[in-house]
Amino acid sequence: MRAAREGGAILQDYAAHGFQIEHKGRINLVTEADLASERYIKQLIASHYPSHRILAEESGASGHSADEYCWIIDPLDGTTNFSHGYPCYAVSIGVEYKGQSVAGAIYDPSRDEMFAAERGAGASCNGRRIQVSDVEPLEKALLVSGFPYDVRERMNDYLPAWREFLKRAQGVRRFGAAAIDMAYVAMGRLEGFWERGLNAWDTAAGWVIIEEAGGRVTKLDGSPFDNHTPSLLCTNGKVHDEMLAVLKSL
Ligand code: IPD
Ligand code: CA
Ligand code: CA
Repeated sequence: MRAAREGGAILQDYAAHGFQIEHKGRINLVTEADLASERYIKQLIASHYPSHRILAEESGASGHSADEYCWIIDPLDGTTNFSHGYPCYAVSIGVEYKGQSVAGAIYDPSRDEMFAAERGAGASCNGRRIQVSDVEPLEKALLVSGFPYDVRERMNDYLPAWREFLKRAQGVRRFGAAAIDMAYVAMGRLEGFWERGLNAWDTAAGWVIIEEAGGRVTKLDGSPFDNHTPSLLCTNGKVHDEMLAVLKSL
């Protein structure tokens, strides 16, 4: 939580004073803020847990390959939003142990909201216990999704699910920050989130936060989730099977 909060403070400093933007791909950006936040978080973690592995979006994997603990860091989730001054972005840090997320923190510095969980100990927002919503069926659910950066090349793969959920849910949103999408499912602000083409740093914290808030996280075919699979469905549990059925029908 400390690393996420301080990473978030670095982002806000850049947001206030300006930053350089570079392209990793045609529509995939990286800013000075991503890099500075990541550098800081990695140093802080390494100074406390020197033997643990680290996987960070902008600098890749580091640490002792044999260690069972891995810290998975997205130093700025929602870089496109951040670059435009749209205040929907977060720092996301998950701790994986033997392939499962066991602790996570997602910090939204614009709203000063800290979502956190430890496996077996519940999930919280700013220190208060949170729970998924009990809204059902899908007809009454508010959903969210996103698009990976290859959306221009693979739009036809991504749109069918949108079309079906737009027909069947109360509404579908696209905020542009997967970590916030997951935190909001955990918080009960949204009932479900699906996305293809994600990375471990997008999901590592959200996975444990949603499950500790009473929700359900699987792959898009309903099989057990792991951070290194690029697609996921997470819900309040109540609309999960209905969403799976829609995804399977595509
Ligand atoms: C992206 C955001 C976006 C999602 C993309 C992610 P980034 O992360 O989470 O909502 O649709 O798939 O890559 O690049 O801003 O850290
Ligand atoms: Ca991300
Ligand atoms: Ca990022």
